[in-house]
Amino acid sequence: MSSPSCEMDKDWDTSVQFLPASDNKKLEKKKGPGKVGAVIGVVIFLAVIALMTGLLVWHFHFRKDVRVKRMYSGSIRIINQVFEDAYENSSSSEFKALANQVTSQLKVIYSKSPQLAKYYVGSTVQAFSEGSVIAYYLSEFRVPVGQEAAVDNAMSSMDKLVDKARRSFHTPGNALVFEDVMSSGRAKTQTTDISLDTRLLSTSFSDSFKFSEHARTDHIGQIQSPGFPDSPYPSNTFLQWELRADPNHVIKLEFDTMNLEANCKNDFVKIYDSLVAIERRIMEELCGYYSPSSPLTFMSSGNVMLVTMATNDKKNYPGFRAKVSQVPRGSKALTCNGHLTGERGTFSSPNFPNYYPPQTRCEWSITVDPGKVVKVTFRKFLLSKSGLENSKDCWKDYVEVNGKKVCGEQPDRTVTETSKTNTMSVVFFSDASYVGRGFDAEFEAIDSNDPCPDQFQCRNQRCIKKELQCDGWNDCGEMSDELNCKCSSKDISCKNGLCKPMFWKCDGVDDCGDGTDEENCGCQAGQMKCKNNKCVSEKNQCDGRDDCGDGSDELNCGRVASGVTCTDLTYRCKNNKCISKVNPECDGTRDCEDGSDEENCDCGRSMFKTSRIVGGQDADEGEFPWQVSLHVKNSGHVCGASIISPRWLVTAAHCVQDDGRTRSYPTPTTTNTPTTMNDIALMELDGPVTYSDHIRPVCLPAAQHDFPAGNTVWITGWGATREGGFAAPVLQKAQVRIINDSVCNNLMGGQITSRMLCAGVLSGGIDACQGDSGGPLSNPSGNRMFLAGVVSWGDGCARRNKPGIYTRVTKFRGWINEKTGV
Ligand code: ARG
Repeated sequence: MSSPSCEMDKDWDTSVQFLPASDNKKLEKKKGPGKVGAVIGVVIFLAVIALMTGLLVWHFHFRKDVRVKRMYSGSIRIINQVFEDAYENSSSSEFKALANQVTSQLKVIYSKSPQLAKYYVGSTVQAFSEGSVIAYYLSEFRVPVGQEAAVDNAMSSMDKLVDKARRSFHTPGNALVFEDVMSSGRAKTQTTDISLDTRLLSTSFSDSFKFSEHARTDHIGQIQSPGFPDSPYPSNTFLQWELRADPNHVIKLEFDTMNLEANCKNDFVKIYDSLVAIERRIMEELCGYYSPSSPLTFMSSGNVMLVTMATNDKKNYPGFRAKVSQVPRGSKALTCNGHLTGERGTFSSPNFPNYYPPQTRCEWSITVDPGKVVKVTFRKFLLSKSGLENSKDCWKDYVEVNGKKVCGEQPDRTVTETSKTNTMSVVFFSDASYVGRGFDAEFEAIDSNDPCPDQFQCRNQRCIKKELQCDGWNDCGEMSDELNCKCSSKDISCKNGLCKPMFWKCDGVDDCGDGTDEENCGCQAGQMKCKNNKCVSEKNQCDGRDDCGDGSDELNCGRVASGVTCTDLTYRCKNNKCISKVNPECDGTRDCEDGSDEENCDCGRSMFKTSRIVGGQDADEGEFPWQVSLHVKNSGHVCGASIISPRWLVTAAHCVQDDGRTRSYPTPTTTNTPTTMNDIALMELDGPVTYSDHIRPVCLPAAQHDFPAGNTVWITGWGATREGGFAAPVLQKAQVRIINDSVCNNLMGGQITSRMLCAGVLSGGIDACQGDSGGPLSNPSGNRMFLAGVVSWGDGCARRNKPGIYTRVTKFRGWINEKTGV
């Protein structure tokens, strides 16, 4: 800590000496030529005046002509035409004839609005589809700077203009009759600008392509990004795929690969429930990586769909591939209404666990035996979150039960409702834009007088096992099972009224929340507590003798240069002398005589200033530059790993074990007990990686490095974001704490060895999971991160009382050095 500021002081000194020298020269010059100075002053003054005049003239004469290109997409239904197959082909004469008619009528429509008429450039019809005929078009305007909002507004009330135009058509005989006009623009309810996505207007696209695919009952189509799977997709390219199905069918788009850059600002795929890129009809925007084992399937509401892809000049990835098929309207996969009866049953949103179609309404009515009531529990609840950011009411997609609307994403089994009578209706609604994976629910008939037979009823109506009441865990989700408790003798009675398991006492973590469980953990007054829990007199501390028996009373004694007796806990310098300071490596202070504790310290830092893993959040780009995703050919991501040098990675042994078959992405099993006691592996790269802002190594801790219980550590990975769930497309990060070894061993049924390290949140909810294996457990120390552990195993994921188990890297420090030289 003190040495970096010393270095800074040195730099500063140099510059202080430098400045007066140059100042002196300036002063010398200034003394002489007074008149020349005055002349220069006048010249500069005149020049400024001239420049200002020029600017003013430019501003008033030309500036109002600065116009920006503004594109709007839209669709319009033509009710007095019949769809012909030739309309699918934009080079047919039939297409061209109808397109001409549409564009000339659009011109008439825009002429009814003074704002639009002035700036209108022209329109092009992009496509037609059935119903009677729907035309999809783009209209271009050149709008003076500052007038954009007015034009947006005019565009969003285009339906009124169409009415106006219709009334004034004097030759109704051959005119097209328009209905259901929809255009991008700024609607009153929308807070975001929805003219065409500005990323698409960028002039940097060097290429753009349009493909079409018509799925039929006997034909399943396929679309893919250019070059897939042999080469990465091209840069600066805009691509569109128009997908169609026969009338009375919907499109099913099924991705088997989706592997794009993680930042949607650079490269993205968008899926629309339309044939033109209109944001009011967007179903989803995709970027980053989706594991092939998590299904990614979309359904349209009509018989058309549009997929667009845009790439910029940075980094290109493998891309995507998807199947295009058609599903008859009213087929089983899509019907969602129903009358449900019986003691219990299940129902789910259409296409679950895949994305539900937009513009869908379902209603289930459930009836149970008279005298009983209906209880519905949502096992999964994943409706689209888009558009809900700034509003609490469910104005987009929602489920309505008992007149109560629920929306967004909710934790498993936390949404439950009970009816007052023996019937209940559940409504599911999806609006025109953004879709989600939907819900999966169960219902049961219950006795209204005893809604939780032999169970405890939470305030939120959940039923939990009686034993879970007052056990120290928040099982209800709103704490009602942990209030007003009389703690048993097996429990700590926290001062705040909670009961916590006795084995949490003195584990270094404040489990009560008010510190009760960590009080009176020490030794008697005048004594210190050793690492091995022995109590020794404080006088014995740093007296040069090992009184604890593990050397812990001789740590951090400040005796440096001469060195101390080496123990398991002291740091051994390169010259084999030992120092008593705890974790001296790379802490910015030179502690070893030979400076070896500060060698090889270009590690553990991200180059950016920043502040699933289950219960995590998206990591920032470059925040964990040592995190690696290990891929197996044809199955994508399988495990994590960490960079420790340009040539070497550390991962878990079970990630690289060849079980005879090609290893597939770890399937979500509940328990995966340790396959090996030494779950660590080193991987040597074919060639060295070049470090950059996004690629750097993590620090390896010395064998004696102490990671005490209670330390906050980071876990990161692309693994499942819930037990049995799907992989994360964006790297997830979460904070957990190191857990006391003996507490952990008790919780895990005695399976913990000294080569393992436990970390987690004992109340559950945050943990590594399938697919995170091999990845880092990063412990911040000073301004660096040290590799404390390697994701290894667990009992399920994020379960209460079941921490994640990591390979303890310090135990393998010597071996790592021996094999890699790092
Ligand atoms: N073994 C798992 C994998 O292969 C990682 C398990 C980690 N589990 C946990 N609950 N922390 O990806």
